[in-house]
Amino acid sequence: MSDGATILSEVDHDQRWRDRLLNLAAKQLAGPVVPSFNSVLQAMSGADPVLVQSLISELADTSSLDVRDRCRAVLADCRRANTSSPVVEDHLLPPPHPLDYEWRFTHDTRTQLASTALIRSPRSVLLLGCPTVAITLLSSHSDFRLTLVDDNPALPLLSNFVEGDHPRYRQVRADLTSTPNVTAGLRADVVIADAPFYPDAMAGFLHAAVAGTRQRGRILFALPPSGTRPTAKRDVGNFHRLAREAGLSHVSTRQGAVRYLRPPFERNAHRSAGLLSVEDDWRAADLATFVRGPDPATLSKPEGSSERSRWQEVVVTGKRWRVRVDEHSSAAVEGLLRKVSTSAILDTVSQRDSRRQLANVCTDDNEYFVTTNPSLLIQVLTSVIRGCDPVTQVGDSLGRPLTPMEHSEVRLLRELIEYRSMRPLTSD
Ligand SMILES: C[S@@+](CC[C@H](N)C(=O)[O-])C[C@H]1O[C@@H](n2cnc3c(N)ncnc32)[C@H](O)[C@@H]1O
Repeated sequence: MSDGATILSEVDHDQRWRDRLLNLAAKQLAGPVVPSFNSVLQAMSGADPVLVQSLISELADTSSLDVRDRCRAVLADCRRANTSSPVVEDHLLPPPHPLDYEWRFTHDTRTQLASTALIRSPRSVLLLGCPTVAITLLSSHSDFRLTLVDDNPALPLLSNFVEGDHPRYRQVRADLTSTPNVTAGLRADVVIADAPFYPDAMAGFLHAAVAGTRQRGRILFALPPSGTRPTAKRDVGNFHRLAREAGLSHVSTRQGAVRYLRPPFERNAHRSAGLLSVEDDWRAADLATFVRGPDPATLSKPEGSSERSRWQEVVVTGKRWRVRVDEHSSAAVEGLLRKVSTSAILDTVSQRDSRRQLANVCTDDNEYFVTTNPSLLIQVLTSVIRGCDPVTQVGDSLGRPLTPMEHSEVRLLRELIEYRSMRPLTSD
């Protein structure tokens, strides 16, 4: 098939996926009672609230008069502030960052997953990207070996937060997309994995799960529901194929069995899109259970590539700035921090958003920027933390005094960083 035909069929595929969601939304709006925005959202197979809002707007323009009125009522409901579901922040954990895809489980889900892990008194449990379950399991004080693998650069040693000694707890920082073999030989009885919902990450986490489980061990894996994005169904199908090839038997999938707390960065995206009524636990995913076969698993390393190591994190007064450092960085002292669009806070958390592709700076407030000189930006961020003068610091590293223009550019950058690092961010 030619490239042109492939692109066309992808476009067709996306359109069919959107049409299916449009039908789902239409069904919700066909009844005699006007539903709330949140109840429509719950029926949309995990579709993003921003997309659901645009589907309802489309229906408002194209449907019969009575459906149109209901759509308008639901759209008005989107904009009503939600007072019923304040986010329960995790004070032990750093603020979630969009580049880590950190959707944390609700307290009910953490407890349920921890109890499921503890059935049959395991001797060893492996968690892949599940820090909240690690805290819950550490608090259970049961006597088993517990390993958490997670690539969050800001994740503290979690056993420090739970009373008592935890000699059998190990926390490993590793990028499971590029180094999924770090779990080899762990022989865990149970693995719980929650990868970012993208094929490369799902394949890496799967590989790590299989490598780290004993024969006949159980693997619980959170998987994206079909409304998550156009390719979600295909991605889950491919995931099951990889699981079979790795010698896993699929036991069950419980739809919507795990639920997440909306992270602050997603709350910012919703606010930017004018969505004020979204409930903090709107997002759910499916939970698939597998058993590893009796034969040694035949594992070939997944082909996925990862750019994670190119992003460096600098934390300024609790705010997490990530900057992508490129090999061929410019030496410019201008254009040090520019918003990727009129607002730095994007109204979406989708990786596919084209503005996100342009950005090489991203914060945990869902702000995206472009910098011409990532290394210099990192220097200025660091000088703000240390309370040093960034102009002197930049001049020293360039080995020359700054021109008046460069001088004011660096000063302005420092003010911007200080302003944007204030919590809560008051305006864009
Ligand atoms: C979807 S979140 C799951 C969090 C989980 N629901 C919880 O409540 O603990 C993904 C997790 O995987 C981690 N992560 C993201 N990409 C990773 C990668 N390539 N390798 C290892 N860990 C990764 C993130 O830091 C985050 O903790």
